[in-house]
Amino acid sequence: MSTPAMRETSGKTLDIAWVREQFPSLKTEVGGKPAAFLDGPAGTQVPRQVMEAIQNYLMNANANTYGAFSTSRRTNEMILAARAAMADFINCAPEEVVFGQNMTTITMGLARAIGRQLKAGDEIVVTTLDHDANVGPWRALEERGAVLRQVDIRESDCTLDLYDLRSKITNKTKLVAVGYASNMVGTINPVAQITKMAHEAGALMFIDAVHYAPHGLIDVKALDCDFLVCSPYKFFGPHMGTLYGKKEHLERFKPYKVRPATNVSPESWETGTQVHELIAGIRAAVDYVAELGRKCDPSAKTRREALAAAYRATVPYERALLMRLLDGLEKLPTFRIFGITDRARFGERCATISFRIGEHNPTEIATFLGERGIFTWDGNFYALNLSERLGVEQKGGVLRVGIVHYNTADEIDRLLEALWGFCAAPK
Ligand SMILES: Cc1ncc(COP(=O)(O)O)c(C=O)c1O
Repeated sequence: MSTPAMRETSGKTLDIAWVREQFPSLKTEVGGKPAAFLDGPAGTQVPRQVMEAIQNYLMNANANTYGAFSTSRRTNEMILAARAAMADFINCAPEEVVFGQNMTTITMGLARAIGRQLKAGDEIVVTTLDHDANVGPWRALEERGAVLRQVDIRESDCTLDLYDLRSKITNKTKLVAVGYASNMVGTINPVAQITKMAHEAGALMFIDAVHYAPHGLIDVKALDCDFLVCSPYKFFGPHMGTLYGKKEHLERFKPYKVRPATNVSPESWETGTQVHELIAGIRAAVDYVAELGRKCDPSAKTRREALAAAYRATVPYERALLMRLLDGLEKLPTFRIFGITDRARFGERCATISFRIGEHNPTEIATFLGERGIFTWDGNFYALNLSERLGVEQKGGVLRVGIVHYNTADEIDRLLEALWGFCAAPK
């Protein structure tokens, strides 16, 4: 386990033993062997801090909001604290944080609200690289006369075609919807640059950071985006979604709502009663990442500094595991990897990798691995445009391996060994 992969560039070490102790589910076994959770892009495992926060809320504060009694007041305080935690996570003000059921539901609601102010012929730019949750909600506005323009990719490395993007952003563009990172091939998009392009054309910038959040520090102030969505269940938290909106936009756009509900943002955007216990879990997830950061760099003072310290340790750690995986995959017979493989360009991708082995259906491979306790995903992961564009949609899509900071070099080696076993097994 003591590979160079464990060392962070500034000399700080990610204490992988401590990390894994925080996640009780990592002790799961399949057929007497420890499970290898390489399924993070569909949802990560949860540290015990998050489980305890959920239980603690239900034990000590379980109530609806704005009642004249203690548990209700505690609920209000807990929600404020969770907003502050999410605000530190993405670097915004707490009143710019909205909670919701998941990213898809939040984006559907936001698109409907923005759609109220669009007129026929207004254009929205989406991409071929994105999860359909960042396409479908905007496509629904075609019913109101909006026109969707879809940016293509460069197939060779699955990056956005920035020339195509530039040509599609015009003075008719009202919103540009781009993912921070691809949940299928791991490409990290130049979202700060794209935000500038959108703003120069007078358009709003919406970023889907769901896949990026566990892999890099988000700074909405530095990006200057107008909206950014995350799903805490992808960064070690519970199954929910969050929306960042610049305050002026949360006030300007009008969400569909019931009459007695408040008109004051951010609560006006939170439809119905929220899952309070999971909101408590979101705060704990952010605090877990900060705790990890403080372990890596005890000099970190604020929670934001601690979050930055965490990513300074996890990013190179994940990258080293990705390198190990790629080195092994490239030796497999008749494999095809999608996305960036050039080691010098690892800054443009995160540690999520998709591939095919010959003409084998990815479900067949995922099942073979699953039986051996190695959890991966097969299919299109709702990145439908991309799966179609790469010509794999009709063939079962791809096999996806997602690495996060609790994965180990041993798990990568086990995966590679199992893939060799799959290739050698009689079919
Ligand atoms: C990049 C990306 N965007 C959006 C979503 C949808 O998120 P949610 O499940 O919170 O609706 C996912 C889920 O896999 C995703 O990976």
